[in-house]
Amino acid sequence: MSILKTLTPERVKGKVVVVRTDFNVPLKNGKITEDSRILLAMPTLQFLIQNGAKQVHILTHMGRPKNEIVPELSTRILIPSLEKLLGEQVHFRSDFTANDGLVQLHENTRFWKGEKKNDPNFARQIRDGIGAELFVLDGFSVAHRAHASVVGLAEAGVESCAGRLLESEIKYLSPFLSQSKIKGLTVIAGGAKMETKVAVLQHFAKTAENILIGGALANTFLVAQGHDVGKSLFEETEVPKAQEVLKLADSYKNGIHLPVDVQVASNPDAESVYVPVEDVSGDMKIFDLGPRTIASFREIIAHSKIIIWNGPVGFFEKSPFDTGTRDIADAVAKNEKCTSILGGGDTVAAIKTLGFHTEQFTHVSTGGGAMLEFLEGKELPGVKIVMK
Ligand code: 3PG
Ligand code: MG
Repeated sequence: MSILKTLTPERVKGKVVVVRTDFNVPLKNGKITEDSRILLAMPTLQFLIQNGAKQVHILTHMGRPKNEIVPELSTRILIPSLEKLLGEQVHFRSDFTANDGLVQLHENTRFWKGEKKNDPNFARQIRDGIGAELFVLDGFSVAHRAHASVVGLAEAGVESCAGRLLESEIKYLSPFLSQSKIKGLTVIAGGAKMETKVAVLQHFAKTAENILIGGALANTFLVAQGHDVGKSLFEETEVPKAQEVLKLADSYKNGIHLPVDVQVASNPDAESVYVPVEDVSGDMKIFDLGPRTIASFREIIAHSKIIIWNGPVGFFEKSPFDTGTRDIADAVAKNEKCTSILGGGDTVAAIKTLGFHTEQFTHVSTGGGAMLEFLEGKELPGVKIVMK
C-alpha cells in the first residue's frame, strides 16, 4: 500500500503554505454550536507556525451555498475561535489573494463556481493569488470531494502532503480495509440513508463477526425479512440491497443482528410502547430499540475487541427514544479493553447530547460520508493526491 506524504519541518520551513481544513461546522443563529473540527485542526496549524512556515493560508467550505455569496456562510465567523486557539491574529481575505499576515483565513470556497467542478482555472487562481508553495490537505471529512480546494492545487503542480488530522484518521481507519475476517470486530450501523451505507455494509458483511443494525436503517432490513413496519420510515427501493447484505453475511457466517423488539408510537409526541417486531402494524412508527434488543446488543458489544459505530440507533433527539443510543454508547464506553471508533456527524452529536465525552472512545472520526466511502474501500480523491 502506498503511504502518505506527511508534514515534516523541512517541507514547511520558509514556505507559503495553503491548508485545506474542513471547518464546515454546525451553526445556529449565527453561532458555532460544535467546534471539534476546529480543535482537531490545531495540531496541523500549530505545526506549520512552529516550524517556520512563511505564511499559513486556511481554506475551507461551509455549508452548501450554490456558487454565490451567502453572508451567513462567511468564514469570518471562524475568526474568534481561531485567534483564541492559535494565539495569533487571523487576517481575513475575502478572495484568494495574500497580505503579509502570518495566518490568513480565506472566504468560503463554495462561493466560487470553480470549486465544486474542480475548474483548473480556479485552482490556478488560488495557487497564484496566494503564491502557494506547499498544499496541506487536513480535512479528512472533505477528502471524498474532488473539489478545486481539495485536489486542484496538487493537480496544478503545488507540492502536497497530508496534515496531522488526515494522517491520524487514515491510521485509525486503515486496518478496517482488510478483506479477511477481523476477529472480534463488531460494526454498529444506524441512522437513515441506507443508500450511503450499502457498500460499507457489504464490505463488513464479509469481514465483521457481528453487525448490529438500528435506526431507520433497521426498518429497511426488517422489511427485507418480511416484517410489517407499520408507518415507520424505511427505504423501499433499498430493500433488495438489504436482502443482499443479509445473504452475504450469512454466506460468510457472520452475524447480522436486527431488532427483536422496538419502541413504537403513532408520532413522536404520542404515548409510546415496547412491542416485539412481529407485532408492529397499522399506524405504529418505530422510534427506538426495545429492551431485549438493547440487552443482546450490549452483550455482543461487551465481548467485542474492536467496535466501529456510525449512526444513532433511535430517534435520540427526543426522549424517551434516546434510550437505545444512550445504552449502546454506554456499552461501548464501558468496554475499556476494546478499540472503539465512532464516526459521522449524527453519531458524534448524539453521544455529546447524551452526555458522553469523545475521550471515552478510542477515535472519533471527523468524517461522515468520507469515513463511509473510505471504509467501503473507495480511493478518496483527497487521499490520493497526498500519497507517495
Ligand atoms: C461534511 O460535513 O460532510 C463535509 O464537510 C462535506 O460537506 P458536503 O457533504 O456538503 O460535501
Ligand atoms: Mg456530508
